[in-house]
Amino acid sequence: MSLSEARLSTATRPNDLEAYWMPFTANRAFKKAPRLITRAKDMYYYAADGRAVLDAAAGLWCCNAGHNRDPIVAAIKRQAEELDYAPAFQFAHPNAFELASRVAALAPGDLDHVFFCNSGSEAVDTALKIALAYHHARGEGARTRLIGRERGYHGVGFGGISVGGIANNRKFFGSLLAGVDHLPHTYNRDTQAFTKGEPEWGAHLADDLERIAVLHDPSTIAAVIVEPMAGSTGVLPPPKGYLQRLRAVCDKYGILLILDEVITGFGRLGFAFAAERYGVVPDIITFAKGITSGTVPMGGAIVRAPVYDAFMRGPEHVIELFHGYTYSAHPLACAAGLATLDLYREERLFERAGALEPKFADAAMTLRGLPGVLDIRTVGLVAGIDLTSKPDGFGKRAYAAMEKAFHEHGIMIRVTGDTIALSPPLIVSENEIGEIFGKVGRVIEAVR
Ligand SMILES: Cc1ncc(COP(=O)(O)O)c(C=O)c1O
Repeated sequence: MSLSEARLSTATRPNDLEAYWMPFTANRAFKKAPRLITRAKDMYYYAADGRAVLDAAAGLWCCNAGHNRDPIVAAIKRQAEELDYAPAFQFAHPNAFELASRVAALAPGDLDHVFFCNSGSEAVDTALKIALAYHHARGEGARTRLIGRERGYHGVGFGGISVGGIANNRKFFGSLLAGVDHLPHTYNRDTQAFTKGEPEWGAHLADDLERIAVLHDPSTIAAVIVEPMAGSTGVLPPPKGYLQRLRAVCDKYGILLILDEVITGFGRLGFAFAAERYGVVPDIITFAKGITSGTVPMGGAIVRAPVYDAFMRGPEHVIELFHGYTYSAHPLACAAGLATLDLYREERLFERAGALEPKFADAAMTLRGLPGVLDIRTVGLVAGIDLTSKPDGFGKRAYAAMEKAFHEHGIMIRVTGDTIALSPPLIVSENEIGEIFGKVGRVIEAVR
């Protein structure tokens, strides 16, 4: 065996955790007490030691149909045997068109063309680039400014962190994109604490777009991007009327509205897209995660007809949008996406999430009054629980909660700062909702 063959076939040391630099992870702490998952089925993960761990996070907000669902697994297997890969540029395979049609049919209004990529971060960069190029194509090339929102999460590409508003995701990475401004975030504990669904207070914060537009000159602004519900920052449902007001200001000034539905898409708030829940038709929707229920990486941007049409001019042999990824509409992702959408339809999982929302919210609110619980917010099948921070470190209490939850209470939760975020697969039963909040309550008591 040659040296390189030997290197390919063996780790340098057995059970060596060192080489893998884990993303968004406290690497040293993890490697001291690893949370290793080796198997999953439906609502459960199984740890390396065989323990069942109830998944209260749908992986990373993505496994909406539950884990290792037979029809999705079968579709991926079939596809792998039939067509491994087809070039995404200048060639295509039939499932890409079928999935685009199916996704477009789920989107509201005239959002009817779909550009595929492989992640939420790529979806955001794609949407921002489409917005800029759209204005350019229409002779409004001066529209180059992008507006995001404080506490927004739009992935980790330079576009996404520039419009994003989470300080730690920005501050280590230089000067970012020029010409970006941010709306204020919509959270105010004094007026919103322990709200189920959309808070009453805060719609007026959308009017800040008016101020920003006037400050920079509206004719220089290309697009505004927000999450309908800010997820990664710790679950902030939009105030009642907020998104409608944002839409109105965008209309007034010819600014494109991008809703980043990477988390809220595919049933999380009881609808195919949150845009439908809120009765707002954006110009572009970004999606990822739930499109394949987390099985194969995929993301995309859905655009309104006039946006697509603006590009479809000039000589027909010329590429209309100089953008794309080797793995755009990858055959395995498309097969997984089609099977996932079938499952969502057959099991009526979006409607199920909507029907379970009141029970989920009630169960979440039972944790009110536990030691150190500052606020609980719910919307759809999502809950955010703010804990008091320990004097010796922001985020330490929630980190301890995540560790204890996994190792001692058999439940996977997601934490951000000192907030616990819960977003179980949409197949969750009423009993399992009870089990989730029972376990989370015990974990909160344990880290008091
Ligand atoms: C709203 C939003 N946009 C973008 C992303 C980035 O997605 P990805 O991690 O697939 O790049 C996320 C991830 O959580 C998200 O919540």
